[in-house]
Amino acid sequence: MPSTPPPQTYRVKSFGCQMNVYDGERMAELLADQGLVPAAEGADADLVVLNTCHIREKAAEKVYSDIGRIVKDWGRKDGSSPLIAVAGCVAQAEGEEIMARAPAVRMVVGPQAYHRLPGMLAEARAGKRVTDTDMPAATKFDALPGRRRSGPAAFLTVQEGCDKFCTYCVVPYTRGAETSRPFGALIDEAARLVASGAREITLLGQNVNAWTGEDGRGRAIGLDGLIRELAGFADLRRIRYTTSHPGDMTDGLIAAHGEIAKLMPFLHLPVQSGNDRVLGAMNRSHTAESYLRLLDRVRAVRPDIALSGDFIVGFPGETDAEFEDTLKLIDRVGYAQAFSFKYSPRPGTPAAAMEGQIPAAVMDERLRRLQEALGRDQLAFNRASLGKRCAVLVERRGRHAGQWLGKSPWLQSVHFTDEPWSKAAIGDIVEVELTAAGPNSLHARLLQPAPA
Ligand code: 5AD
Ligand code: SF4
Repeated sequence: MPSTPPPQTYRVKSFGCQMNVYDGERMAELLADQGLVPAAEGADADLVVLNTCHIREKAAEKVYSDIGRIVKDWGRKDGSSPLIAVAGCVAQAEGEEIMARAPAVRMVVGPQAYHRLPGMLAEARAGKRVTDTDMPAATKFDALPGRRRSGPAAFLTVQEGCDKFCTYCVVPYTRGAETSRPFGALIDEAARLVASGAREITLLGQNVNAWTGEDGRGRAIGLDGLIRELAGFADLRRIRYTTSHPGDMTDGLIAAHGEIAKLMPFLHLPVQSGNDRVLGAMNRSHTAESYLRLLDRVRAVRPDIALSGDFIVGFPGETDAEFEDTLKLIDRVGYAQAFSFKYSPRPGTPAAAMEGQIPAAVMDERLRRLQEALGRDQLAFNRASLGKRCAVLVERRGRHAGQWLGKSPWLQSVHFTDEPWSKAAIGDIVEVELTAAGPNSLHARLLQPAPA
């Protein structure tokens, strides 16, 4: 294969979870360090990185249709072709298959190896097809460049991997064992993010509340200790974390919700099912009751907390009555928002080999009923916010002149418009009154001039 001229433009396309969004940003920073610039909107890029998700079959299949589309749409007349890299969890799980099925792919790089992308790029340009899906114990984070740019709401990966082995889930295989990034590295990265404009940081991890470390004085701390430390950054106004596991909700973390004003009143705590037999078969370490008790304890210290969850319908063997238990749990919680999925058998997971796989039509009907219930509760939550006054972090411009889009403390999307006496700017925290509510967003009125 002839060698390829140096790529000048790149595009990183991330699918799936927020961790992939974070990884995608870090890969973009690496490529920028190599002198590449982002391809203009709508233009072909010389290098395309598909940062993939393997969690469900549909997500995993997307990579192949995307590769096909890139190759077909490549508009150049000079016969050159784009450099395509597949990154993320599909790369980790199906690296060899990708290389076999998609000859246009030149690089396959796993989630723990993407700091090696620049070296791989050089080899790919020389005509090689290169795969790196190592899961080195030494962390990639040390090898990544420092953060230089940040929007007002930034992500910070503090923990990766999962040791829980829920029987349906590929994450323990694609992202490896639970590892926590060291405290000092996180404080440094947070400081850089805040210095470059972040006003809110969302701490990320597959099991973010399993994070442990040693603080500056050598004391063992958990996620609540890290949050306390970050709350000391004057210009950092808001802290969030996701995704957490019920088994790692420590007393300290629950207490933090009542004590740390910068920790936003929002908790994403997946439950998956409301039935104890199904939860057992999923290898979840909680029951429906123990989960509800946990939420009661969080509500006791933070009564206005907004709750979010993940649900799977049609886990192998799930009966109609067991599914009804999930609807009952939803009724008891009153979620502010939630994510719900049809069970998707994943290669190599125990559940994929279980008896009693549920027919697609049954799953469709269960998902429809579940989403109807969750949609109803989300609208009810938003309507209950009407008339409230709250702070909104301004994240971007709206579609109309003078219109802005931001987030409430409860992670609702809020639209508002400048007043003659006040013009907002990205990164401001403004006081508003919530005036209209839909299922997915709210409208608000500015209450006082935005801080200078
Ligand atoms: N099928 C359907 N949903 C899944 N999830 C994880 N694995 C599967 C699967 N095999 C869902 C869970 C998890 C979320 C990130 O994705 O609800 O919390
Ligand atoms: Fe997957 Fe369960 Fe780990 Fe979440 S806790 S990443 S669902 S194995």
